[in-house]
Amino acid sequence: MSPHSLIIAPSILSADFSHLQDEVDSMAAYADWIQVDVMDGHFVPNLSFGAPVVKWIDNDLPLDIHLMVSNPADRIQEFLALGASNITFHAEAVPDSAQRKELIDAIHKGGATAGIAINPETPLENVADAIVDVDLLLVMSVHPGFGGQSFMPEVLEKVQQARKEHPDLMIQMDGGIDNTTAEACREAGANNLVSGSFIFSAKDRKLAIESLHSSL
Ligand code: DX5
Repeated sequence: MSPHSLIIAPSILSADFSHLQDEVDSMAAYADWIQVDVMDGHFVPNLSFGAPVVKWIDNDLPLDIHLMVSNPADRIQEFLALGASNITFHAEAVPDSAQRKELIDAIHKGGATAGIAINPETPLENVADAIVDVDLLLVMSVHPGFGGQSFMPEVLEKVQQARKEHPDLMIQMDGGIDNTTAEACREAGANNLVSGSFIFSAKDRKLAIESLHSSL
């Protein structure tokens, strides 16, 4: 297992947006990161929110921006300006190695760590070029676009392969992660778990987050 301890990154996609700050406050004390799902309605079928909303979140937790957008290069600067600590783009949106490298360098230049995400159907080999330059690999365990979907266990093999080949890489998983699926993710080698609907549908958010750290 890598030296990182397990990071839990609640995704605010499933939060009650009419009380966004209260929702963040309700779980921030127990979370490690806050994940923001930026969707453009083009790379993924859903449209979520961007910097104009994120700027109103008042919290000191590391801000993890997950860009599910066709042109991630267009979004980097606005999130760096908001103090993003990690910015992840999708390999499927940037197939060209040189462009991936440019994007990763721009994110690093802006003081954030860089992540690359792969959808369930994308093999690990697809990011062989970029994985040496990024700080984080995001292995999606749902098809991106919506919260509340079912976990796809077939991606666990990819996580095991990535952990074997890159023992010190931060490996994040996202999609359908709750108290029944988190253990398999941890055991496969993920050390950063995104969870949205499970946490925000829970009355006791502290208990929900604790249950992702270890099976209660
Ligand atoms: C892509 C989004 C969701 C969200 C987590 O669809 O990235 O995966 O963060 O959603 P849950 O935890 O509800 O599957």
